[in-house]
Amino acid sequence: MSTITRLLVLLLAIGGALVYKQLNQLWGDLPVPTLDEQQWWGDEASPSDYATYLANTSEVINNRILYPETTIEDLRKQLNRTLRLTPPLEGVAFEYGFNSDYLKELVAYWRDDYLPRWREREVFLWQFNHFTTEIQGLRMHFLHLKVYDENKVGKQHYPVLLLHGWPGSVREFYDLIHLLHQSNLDPSNKYIFNVVVPSLPGYGWSQGTSRPGLGPAQAAVILRNLMLRLGYKKFFIQGGDWGSILGSHLATLYPDNVLGYHSNLCNNLSPKSQVKGLLAGILPSLFAPSGFEDFFFPRSKELKYLIEESGYFHLQATKPDTIGSALSDNPVGLAAYILEKFSTWTNATYRSLPDGGLTKRYTLDALFDNVMIYYLTNSITTSQRLYAEAYTNDQRELNLERVPTSVPTGCARFKGDIMQFLDWQLQDKFKNLIHSTYYRRGGHFAALEVPKVLYKDFIDFVKKVERKFNIKTL
Ligand SMILES: *[C@@H]1O[C@H](CO)[C@@H](O)[C@H](O)[C@H]1NC(C)=O
Ligand SMILES: *[C@@H]1O[C@H](CO)[C@@H](O)[C@H](O)[C@H]1NC(C)=O
Ligand SMILES: *[C@@H]1O[C@H](CO)[C@@H](O)[C@H](O)[C@H]1NC(C)=O
Repeated sequence: MSTITRLLVLLLAIGGALVYKQLNQLWGDLPVPTLDEQQWWGDEASPSDYATYLANTSEVINNRILYPETTIEDLRKQLNRTLRLTPPLEGVAFEYGFNSDYLKELVAYWRDDYLPRWREREVFLWQFNHFTTEIQGLRMHFLHLKVYDENKVGKQHYPVLLLHGWPGSVREFYDLIHLLHQSNLDPSNKYIFNVVVPSLPGYGWSQGTSRPGLGPAQAAVILRNLMLRLGYKKFFIQGGDWGSILGSHLATLYPDNVLGYHSNLCNNLSPKSQVKGLLAGILPSLFAPSGFEDFFFPRSKELKYLIEESGYFHLQATKPDTIGSALSDNPVGLAAYILEKFSTWTNATYRSLPDGGLTKRYTLDALFDNVMIYYLTNSITTSQRLYAEAYTNDQRELNLERVPTSVPTGCARFKGDIMQFLDWQLQDKFKNLIHSTYYRRGGHFAALEVPKVLYKDFIDFVKKVERKFNIKTL
């Protein structure tokens, strides 16, 4: 070898090593960061003596939150004002956003049909026990269904944490809760669960913080503290939307507490996963399971859809309070803003239907139960702040999408959902991705839309976790 060649080889080797080092810096695995498990989010000053604070506030209160007739009457009046809406363009359904002709109809339904039956809706919403307890200065709200001994006979018995997202609420899970908790209705079913369904911090009846910095990672800490307070040291997690991200963070930060993580929106937005997503587009058949390529490809179509449908995201990630003001003080706008998502995220083709296909997969009562939760708790602004907190420098520096977790993971994909990730993209983060499924029917709000399918998928996942990881019944 001539000196020149040797020099070239040497340079090439050094170059290669540098590129590798750079890439690794950009997308290598990172260690689990440590978060403050007592970080204070309350309105008052943080307590000087946290142990006494804990001892004084760890009470769990059975809380039936009822609203006075004046609150409902006031809403009825607001919905009875002359609507100053702009008619939709000719031939336009939901392509420009919520169709204002249909919105008029919905407002009439809300005012004249739903609200007069509010006490009946209340009975429905409060069919499960609602509780509150204070965690890190915040009043946290949750549903909690315990399995009692007489139900337990002959059943496997685990706790499960169900996590909703935006613009959803605990209401999404009502059918699923019945399936998980009352599986004693079916003698052949060997599973029964202790079910915990919190309102995320700042959502529904869970208090929003008055301090900046409560992002998805910090919310995961709060949710774990809640489970520990209820006596659950090991539990399953199921979630979509933010519930998926918070569940993933919980499994990443506290793998010892999580028996299995199941999501209907498994995602990972690490740089490596994104590069993989683009690369896979070159030869889809190599990366997507046969017959399901259309869940992921063509990438150009996915990208176009994402740009069309993610305006709300950018808005909420940057100016949550401005849009929050517009919506807090305006129930009609609030309903349009929330329900548009239940149309498009269930099935993108519903954008061409004059009524957004809203009643194809849901009842109007279920949809308005969810809108009422945002309205009555005035939580739209605090719920939207989660987007902003997810994109602060502090949050991004945690780099949780690059911290792998060994917690057994299950991913159920529904065709109508807003984005899809390949196993190949997910495996760097979820080292034990043991369950991966595809459903042609169903979208983003799977728990509300196809509860039985989601239930069965979750049970299949639990069975796999039991088989492969030898977990013990509690
Ligand atoms: C805890 O409760 C005790 C007794 O009720 C009270 O004296 C004390 O001030 C409380 N401490 C805190 C930190 O709230
Ligand atoms: C709405 O307003 C009209 C006229 O102002 C009134 O007659 C009607 O009772 C109101 N309806 C409700 C539900 O408040
Ligand atoms: C969406 O709606 C179209 C038209 O009704 C239907 O063909 C398709 O199967 C639906 N997709 C999902 C995921 O339900």
